[in-house]
Amino acid sequence: MKTQIPRGQIIGTGSFIPNRILSNKDLECIVNTSDEWITQRTGIRERRICSKAGGETTTYMATEASLKALAMAGISPESLDMIVVGSVTSDRLFPSTGCMVQKELNAKNAAAFDISAGCSGFLYSLSMVNNAIRSGMCKNALVIGVERLSSIVNWQDRGTCVLLADGAGAVVVSSTTEHDGIMSTHLKSDGDMWDLLYASEGNSYTPELLNDMDQKPYHLKMAGNRVFKKAIRCLSSIAKEAMQYNSISSKDIALIIPHQANIRIIHGLAKSLHIPKEKAYTNIDKYGNTSSATIPIALDKANHKGLLKKGDHLLLVTFGAGLTWASSIVRWSMEVPKVPKIKST
Ligand code: ACO
Repeated sequence: MKTQIPRGQIIGTGSFIPNRILSNKDLECIVNTSDEWITQRTGIRERRICSKAGGETTTYMATEASLKALAMAGISPESLDMIVVGSVTSDRLFPSTGCMVQKELNAKNAAAFDISAGCSGFLYSLSMVNNAIRSGMCKNALVIGVERLSSIVNWQDRGTCVLLADGAGAVVVSSTTEHDGIMSTHLKSDGDMWDLLYASEGNSYTPELLNDMDQKPYHLKMAGNRVFKKAIRCLSSIAKEAMQYNSISSKDIALIIPHQANIRIIHGLAKSLHIPKEKAYTNIDKYGNTSSATIPIALDKANHKGLLKKGDHLLLVTFGAGLTWASSIVRWSMEVPKVPKIKST
């Protein structure tokens, strides 16, 4: 079936995960915590963090994920009209990570910029790109979610340092008049509650911040328990809004690709939607909370595992700093993931 107004279709996915593993046992040596507490309260067993020696900056991770997504999509960087990056840990205050990735890719025909929407950064970016495609402004775009949260984490605060991690995911979105693709996106925010989760300053390339887990002059702060309570309510309501908008019900959802903040939040969301928890894709046990990168990383991993079938309805849903929350229904359009032709990292 063809549509009159074009929509975005995901034609390639990619991700980059740093090699350095930080386990719950490792964290027991840093703060007063335990493997048991972290596993039970969050679902996280280990997470990845960047090493200074590896040169793993935000731009580097975003570029690596993008190269894989482009290779899978089979399009060149020159054919991109737009690069949009969701991130709260750009390398520099300015220019944007989008422009820095543009240089690395030599994507000389793209307009590049960043969106700051906490953990909702990727879905906010996907929404902007889909609407640019719908308006005819853009044909091929790269949407990236990337974070180097280890740069702004307070490694003495057990309430946050056990949760947060580094990584990047990217998707190539292309204009189509086929019926499959990004069916809708839904965005919400509540600035009244900004102070439940914030960081005062700090960019990931600031040299002292590259010193891995040293004490930092400025940090991320979170009232975790208050965020937790708000998260399940907001995720559930924006997921329902997306299903209602598309006239589909919970039983039509093949897979939820949720933000990976806490396994209890993910299971609470699935329960509130009457969707079996097994239908929520999770990798929080291995990668922790990489903020705006969790959804594109999860999408890429699920795609490579062959869990996404053409015609499947996927529910993408997230919640984060701002406060912000967002959802999208994607009718999956790729037959099988094409193996990237570039060297995998
Ligand atoms: N190890 C051991 N004990 C801990 C730890 C830890 N790592 N962290 C907190 N505790 C203690 C607290 O000090 C508290 O002790 P007390 O009762 O003696 O005061 C107790 O555990 C309970 O603390 P809570 O904060 O109530 O624990 P909770 O069950 O809420 O779990 C958590 C905390 C994991 C942070 C949870 O609230 C959460 O996941 N919140 C939501 C996170 C989220 O979704 N954030 C948005 C996205 S992140 C982003 O945008 C970057």
